[in-house]
Amino acid sequence: MNNLIIFNIIVVLFLIINIKIIKCEIEETPLCLKCSCTSDENGPEVDIDCTDDMLTLEFIYDQRNWINTTTNHTYYISTLNLKSSDLGDLRGQFPESNLTLLDFTDNLIRTIDDNYFAKLQNMSELVLTRNEIDRLKPDAFKGLRMDGDNYPLRSLKILKLNKNRLHTLHQDLFEHIEERLEVLDLSDNPFKVLDQQTTIAIGGIIYLKELYLGSTQIKKLPEHFLHTPKYLKVLDLSGNNFIEVPETLNDSHVLEVLYFNNNPIVNLTKDSGFPSISTLKVLHMCNMLELQLIGEKSMNGLTSLEEVHICNNNLLQEIDAGAFTREEFETEIWPPIKKLHLRDNKLTNLDRHLILHWENLNDLDLRFNPWTCECENEWMVDVLMPIYLNINETLAKTLQ
Ligand SMILES: *[C@@H]1O[C@H](CO)[C@@H](O)[C@H](O)[C@H]1NC(C)=O
Ligand SMILES: *[C@@H]1O[C@H](CO)[C@@H](O)[C@H](O)[C@H]1NC(C)=O
Ligand SMILES: *[C@@H]1O[C@H](CO)[C@@H](O)[C@H](O)[C@H]1NC(C)=O
Ligand SMILES: *[C@@H]1O[C@H](CO)[C@@H](O)[C@H](O)[C@H]1NC(C)=O
Ligand SMILES: *[C@@H]1O[C@H](CO)[C@@H](O)[C@H](O)[C@H]1NC(C)=O
Ligand SMILES: *[C@@H]1O[C@H](CO)[C@@H](O)[C@H](O)[C@H]1NC(C)=O
Ligand SMILES: *[C@@H]1O[C@H](CO)[C@@H](O)[C@H](O)[C@H]1NC(C)=O
Repeated sequence: MNNLIIFNIIVVLFLIINIKIIKCEIEETPLCLKCSCTSDENGPEVDIDCTDDMLTLEFIYDQRNWINTTTNHTYYISTLNLKSSDLGDLRGQFPESNLTLLDFTDNLIRTIDDNYFAKLQNMSELVLTRNEIDRLKPDAFKGLRMDGDNYPLRSLKILKLNKNRLHTLHQDLFEHIEERLEVLDLSDNPFKVLDQQTTIAIGGIIYLKELYLGSTQIKKLPEHFLHTPKYLKVLDLSGNNFIEVPETLNDSHVLEVLYFNNNPIVNLTKDSGFPSISTLKVLHMCNMLELQLIGEKSMNGLTSLEEVHICNNNLLQEIDAGAFTREEFETEIWPPIKKLHLRDNKLTNLDRHLILHWENLNDLDLRFNPWTCECENEWMVDVLMPIYLNINETLAKTLQ
């Protein structure tokens, strides 16, 4: 009996020691001497953060950072963050690695050599935010030869090119990644217009799900722009020069979330308002510095709307009672709004017919509006207040 227990203890001890030995065999890359490394508890992968460490590409490319030259074992690098490292143009080719995220934010990059990322076939996210890129050659994202495929970067799903100096894109820019890419961020680039080449480049991304075009100085979307990206769910057009909501949004197929903040629309009317987007669930329309009126039927094409953010529009005085209502077979129909944020506008009254079932809301924010106490608003006290108290007592009490 005792012998058995001792034997068991020995076995357990042996296992522990063995596990330790296995763990020790995984060496860390010398990059960890310069950068801070965090290792994954469940595996040998390491996350490397070199933010603000002044490095050169030459140093990063050094083979000894990627492979133990004695054993020829490659290091397990999961993510590599090279933010603000003063690297400059991306010349040559990045070393072969299984890393999944590469972050080049803020490095004064102007150009990227052809095939630069080709050996990063496991990279799913590439961040090139806040650089000085004004032109990208069509082979910048060219990958490796693969049968039946056009030199793909086969894992790349998220590409962030925001905060650069792009004003156009080569029409073939995404040809090697257009069958993989799902998220494209082009915000904060001075496009001014989406020319034909740019439109072709974006239109070719078959499975695009999220497109960010905020602060690109555009005022129009090209006709049928949303016809090709069949899977687009999220679109950001905030911070641009739209004086009306683009009609071509009605070509979208599965658009669910639209950011339309900070555009210079004065009065949203049936004509300048939203076309029919029957799939849209979430709308953000805040910081519209010039918006005064949301008129009748201006939003009634948004038949599936669930979440509405109309906030921080300093001049917005009126939302027409019929803004959301449409008629079908002589009956009035409202979208199924559940979340309504109307904070920080200049609204003095709210019509009870704006929404059909206020009691169906599960989120409501009416703060910071100059609500008046006139008769037309009596329902707000009698009907809406109890509902509001029920949804969020703290917020409701700010209104009393
Ligand atoms: C390479 O691996 C050997 C054997 O595991 C180890 O002794 C050596 O320190 C490693 N070299 C570096 C640079 O990590
Ligand atoms: C490592 O690779 C080099 C070059 O491919 C080769 O010459 C060397 O024999 C390899 N060493 C080991 C330990 O496999
Ligand atoms: C990448 O991972 C594969 C499979 O896990 C492995 O065989 C290969 O050596 C790794 N390549 C590099 C460069 O780490
Ligand atoms: C890299 O990707 C290949 C193919 O998708 C996969 O088999 C492999 O496990 C990945 N390697 C790592 C280390 O993630
Ligand atoms: C979108 O609007 C345009 C212009 O009003 C119209 O010609 C087109 O038929 C509409 N498309 C859809 C899918 O509703
Ligand atoms: C916008 O609507 C307001 C209120 O109805 C009206 O006074 C104003 O003239 C309109 N402005 C424009 C540019 O249509
Ligand atoms: C009420 O709203 C405030 C501000 O949005 C939020 O912080 C709080 O969690 C909400 N309370 C409830 C009970 O939902």
